[in-house]
Amino acid sequence: MKLTPKERLIFALDVTSVQEVKRWVRLLKGYVEIFKVGKELFTACGPKVVEIIHKAGGEVFLDLKFHDIPNTVAKAGAVAAGLVVKMFNVHTLGGLKMMEAVRESVDKTCKRGRRPIILGVTILTSMDEKAIKQVGIQGPVKNRVLHLASLAKRAGLDGVVASPLEVKDIKKKLGKDFIAVTPGIRMPDSKPDDQHRTMTPAEAIKAGADYIVVGRLIREAKEPVEAVKKILEET
Ligand code: C5P
Repeated sequence: MKLTPKERLIFALDVTSVQEVKRWVRLLKGYVEIFKVGKELFTACGPKVVEIIHKAGGEVFLDLKFHDIPNTVAKAGAVAAGLVVKMFNVHTLGGLKMMEAVRESVDKTCKRGRRPIILGVTILTSMDEKAIKQVGIQGPVKNRVLHLASLAKRAGLDGVVASPLEVKDIKKKLGKDFIAVTPGIRMPDSKPDDQHRTMTPAEAIKAGADYIVVGRLIREAKEPVEAVKKILEET
């Protein structure tokens, strides 16, 4: 997918109030088009934040990582589609049937209108080999990610969320049109925080990422707009 740097950047709005949402969206207007609403913000403020972002001219990636029985996830996906978000995600570990069910229900809900991009979360970018072993998944991480991404494609999802380290292989195996969204973005001199499988914005795009998700690198910068400009320049 050929996108501009501005179209590729997703800002993780990991805040807990409507005031902060409005402040960030206002501050980054003109530089960021897609805002990610995750579990923290959604739990604190609910679906009204999606409306607030839309009203301000932004688009939404609803990052609630649905992981439940097929019927529940299918219904949650239809509700997400009703919010007219640009993209939302489910956990690939919920299984093939769950992913097929959500895709079918969203297709039905959006028969005539625009359908959101449905992504599968593979292995969280915060998990390394040791962490996946602890939960009973045998490594190497890359193989597991590729396996789960293939399952997502088989279910008819549009792409996956994966670490930038796996993007090249995902594109090679599943084709360049299968969307790759990558969190785990850090600068060489920034602290990794809880992320383990990271790359810089430029490296992630070079590896083939269609979208990059950036949170703390921007939110915790002394000059957030400058941080965004730097990312846009290098990607
Ligand atoms: O602050 P940072 O840039 O690490 O934020 C990354 C964002 O991407 C967080 O909101 C996190 O929930 C999200 N995310 C992730 N790994 C995934 C999926 C989403 O880090 N596999």
